[in-house]
Amino acid sequence: MQDTFLRNIRYLRISVTDRCNLRCKYCLPEDVEFFDNSEILTYDEIYKISYVMSNMGVDTIRMTGGEPLLRADCVDLISDIKKLPNIQKVRITTNGIYLTKYIDRLSKIGIDGLNISLDTLDAKLFHEMTGADRFNKVWDGIMAALERNIKVKINVVLIKGMNEHEIIPLTRLAEKYPIDVRFIELMPIDVCSSLKLEGVQYDYIMDIISSVYHDISLDSTEKGLGPAKYFKSSTMKGSIGFIDPMSHGFCDNCNRLRLTSEGFLKLCLYHNDGTNLRDLLRSGISDDSLQLAILEALRQKPLQHFFNDCAGFKTMSKIGG
Ligand code: 5AD
Ligand code: SF4
Repeated sequence: MQDTFLRNIRYLRISVTDRCNLRCKYCLPEDVEFFDNSEILTYDEIYKISYVMSNMGVDTIRMTGGEPLLRADCVDLISDIKKLPNIQKVRITTNGIYLTKYIDRLSKIGIDGLNISLDTLDAKLFHEMTGADRFNKVWDGIMAALERNIKVKINVVLIKGMNEHEIIPLTRLAEKYPIDVRFIELMPIDVCSSLKLEGVQYDYIMDIISSVYHDISLDSTEKGLGPAKYFKSSTMKGSIGFIDPMSHGFCDNCNRLRLTSEGFLKLCLYHNDGTNLRDLLRSGISDDSLQLAILEALRQKPLQHFFNDCAGFKTMSKIGG
């Protein structure tokens, strides 16, 4: 499936819940209100959208949240979606808290990769940043995934005055383990500006890393469908990735759509355009008409994001990152 700018759309991110068992300061505002359960897409509804979109050319799916593993049916859903004939890869973005609980089942169904959010290696700071004293749980989950040879990427968001001093310790994970460590630039969503949280720029992070890893150079191995740029030093088993959403660098190659947990097909992370698929599904729409509605929505997919134009959004957990 192509959009009006002839970009090939093959990647769908599905947020299966807006709830989370952590409260990362930059993501969830304290007064957050969650969707009512009746508003959230059911198993069958998510499966149906995945089925229709896989017939339209989507071959890669990522489950996100909130925290996707909070949904008890998440692993079964992934297992069923993985069996769809056109689906090649299904991955999860998780905070890792429930990984030890589900890792054997995830391994058994052949999960194609885990992106685990981890902003610090300091258990006390983890508690401060996430509101939960669960660092060890996440760490055990990461180790359990590695033991089962599941591909792990760590997502790090650096905040000035909070965890910016951990650039090198976090980078070392890619040396010690076959893990890709990805630094994601903080996006200026509402909660970040109200708490005056400031992110750390790509250039600064790269300067620090290259002062320790002198031979760091571009790693052009295929790493998935995301917008990260990767670098590697000869001593590293994994790579170091950067996702700098504030530049428009990756919009040209945008290949993705997002489905929010309440069934809104979102065309761009930073725009509110899209269409409500849940209402269509609940009105008993046929697969063919659903496909037409998706194609119609796709015509509105913008060329790129303009942070200044977009109606701000309150929480990343409603969109799934
Ligand atoms: N800026 C950048 N990344 C964010 N995430 C959540 N909120 C923000 C933000 N404001 C990240 C999390 C997680 C992913 C799903 O989204 O750290 O890794
Ligand atoms: Fe939960 Fe991820 Fe948001 Fe943290 S960043 S509160 S783990 S959804």
